Amino acid sequence: MLNIALPKGRLGQKVYDMFEKAGFDCPSIKEENRKLIFENEEKCVRYFWVKPSDVAIYVERGAADIGVCGKDILLEYEPDIYELLDLDIGKCRMAVAAKKDFRDNTKSTLRVATKFANIAKNFYAKKGRDIDIIHLNGSIEIAPILGLSDVIVDIVETGTTLKENNLEVFDTIVPISARLIANKANFKFKEEEIRRLTTDLEKQISEGE
Ligand code: PRP
Repeated sequence: MLNIALPKGRLGQKVYDMFEKAGFDCPSIKEENRKLIFENEEKCVRYFWVKPSDVAIYVERGAADIGVCGKDILLEYEPDIYELLDLDIGKCRMAVAAKKDFRDNTKSTLRVATKFANIAKNFYAKKGRDIDIIHLNGSIEIAPILGLSDVIVDIVETGTTLKENNLEVFDTIVPISARLIANKANFKFKEEEIRRLTTDLEKQISEGE
């Protein structure tokens, strides 16, 4: 049985469709209910819906053999897993944003509001810039508006959230997309199925380009 952690939400639906196309289908997952675990014995697959930011935890600890999560999570938490493939979906970028009239005064410590403390720390450490991290869990865009921070480090997809809150991008830190990841030990035992899946996904990605 191959245990697969999928990120709950729109991205997860897209990922499932790719896995189904690759022959790892599990029809019960399409039923409208609130179940979180679905199994297809015939294809030897079991899927679970988990919070996107938790996928890497399930995979790192081996509760899932493989899973799909954003590169943002891998950069932030650096889980000990194999990163097998860039699925070329869920594309966005990690960026620094601030109010339009923001000017960086390099003499004072920069106050950075973010969910991604490590990404922000690494980015500013490379620049040799002193920062004070303000760790928030969501609605990060509010922080500079209320004067809680000077800038934010957050995910920008369409840019709508920034625009509607009169903020703009000052720096792009890194492009982000969804990655297929695997538990290191389980990969050895289930290498054949995982490789079969990966090869098919690679084909789908190159055909889609
Ligand atoms: C994410 C991110 C931005 C928004 C960017 O938030 O933190 O707020 O999406 O998308 P956009 O560029 O297309 O507007 P999410 O919806 O995950 O909620 P959050 O406020 O809890 O971070």
